Amino acid sequence: MPVITEIEDLRRIYRRRVPKMFYDYAESGSWTEQTFRENTSDFEEIRLRQRIAVDMAGRSTATQLVGEDVAMPVALAPVGLLGMQSADGEIKAARAAEQFGVPFTLSTMSICSIEDVASHTSKPFWFQVYTLKDDDFMKRLFARAKEAKCSALVITVDLQVMGQRHRDVKNGLSAPPKLTPASIANLATKVPWGLEMLQTKRRFFGNIIGHAKGVKDPSSLGSWTAEAFDPSLDWARIKQFRDWWDGPVILKGILDEEDAKQAINVGADAIVVSNHGGRQLDGALSSIRMLPRIMDAVGDKTEVHLDSGIRSGQDILKAVALGAKGTMVGRAFVYGLGAMGQEGVKKSLDVLHKELDTTMALCGERDVKDLGRHNLLMPEDFETRWR
Ligand SMILES: Cc1cc2nc3c(=O)[nH]c(=O)nc-3n(C[C@H](O)[C@H](O)[C@H](O)COP(=O)(O)O)c2cc1C
Repeated sequence: MPVITEIEDLRRIYRRRVPKMFYDYAESGSWTEQTFRENTSDFEEIRLRQRIAVDMAGRSTATQLVGEDVAMPVALAPVGLLGMQSADGEIKAARAAEQFGVPFTLSTMSICSIEDVASHTSKPFWFQVYTLKDDDFMKRLFARAKEAKCSALVITVDLQVMGQRHRDVKNGLSAPPKLTPASIANLATKVPWGLEMLQTKRRFFGNIIGHAKGVKDPSSLGSWTAEAFDPSLDWARIKQFRDWWDGPVILKGILDEEDAKQAINVGADAIVVSNHGGRQLDGALSSIRMLPRIMDAVGDKTEVHLDSGIRSGQDILKAVALGAKGTMVGRAFVYGLGAMGQEGVKKSLDVLHKELDTTMALCGERDVKDLGRHNLLMPEDFETRWR
């Protein structure tokens, strides 16, 4: 058993274990990947203030996100195709999140269905929807999520059209993988992954096949996806989705002050400052760099969460110190899932928690709720370099 001390250790194991097509799917950004890279490198520009001789005993990372108690200010971000990273991946990740005490967000584009995840977990999870055209499908999706007792709805608003990731096109990404000479050669080197996958029936998009009109089998899914997304989305439509759900709504994919204000106007209970992990608009600024402006605009009016680029507890601390009530992690837990299944996701959360807790102590803080800008040292122009 390898010794795992940081998220990067999990990424290395993940890379060895999972077919290239699915590793590349997670570990890439759109076009030149500038935004993908800066999501992580911008965290490094922010430094921490070391304080000493402060009582650091009895520390707490516990807080609340949209009214739910959580063990630390983290939720697992919605990630499509988890069941291709590891067999039954959504169930494994949801169980690890439940064990740890943080919310799991199930993506619409998951392999395991809402009902399947609900029947294999005991705590409510969050459900993520894209803003699709088909009202009937959307209403049924909302009803299914309600029936499954999902405690919050995450509406992703930054994917009206899709940013291109070159490697997905070149690899012919599909679930399950299409068999080509290149994919067969690669799959032959991933025997443990393949044996696990042969033992599960969950290999297709569980929320869509058999539920969306005209999608009875995987072969009709491609044309449905191309048609399903709504390029004409506007705020009135977002408000309509908001009104269909009688619980907390989190709008994910806000990266601009003006959009943050609009999100409040349509009644969002929280927003996620996010650029989709650098997978959509290449050339957009990183989430962490946009966070201070958005906090200034709406920080006192709504709960602000942040994702994109978090790979350590120090990153979580920086986001919270800049005002985020919570964070979402995507790749940091996907690496764990691909590397070691449920145990790997739990390991990712343990690593992040340990780093957050120790870093908090070394900053002279006992309670995550007391973190603030006083804990940070920032370049003078961090917020203003690009106007
Ligand atoms: C492989 C992959 C698949 C994703 N699928 C979805 C999805 O189905 N729905 C969604 O709202 N966001 C999706 N995202 C974006 C994540 O929810 C999140 O915004 C992003 O991963 C955060 O960046 P990080 O990976 O650097 O933490 C996906 C991200 C990755 C890496």
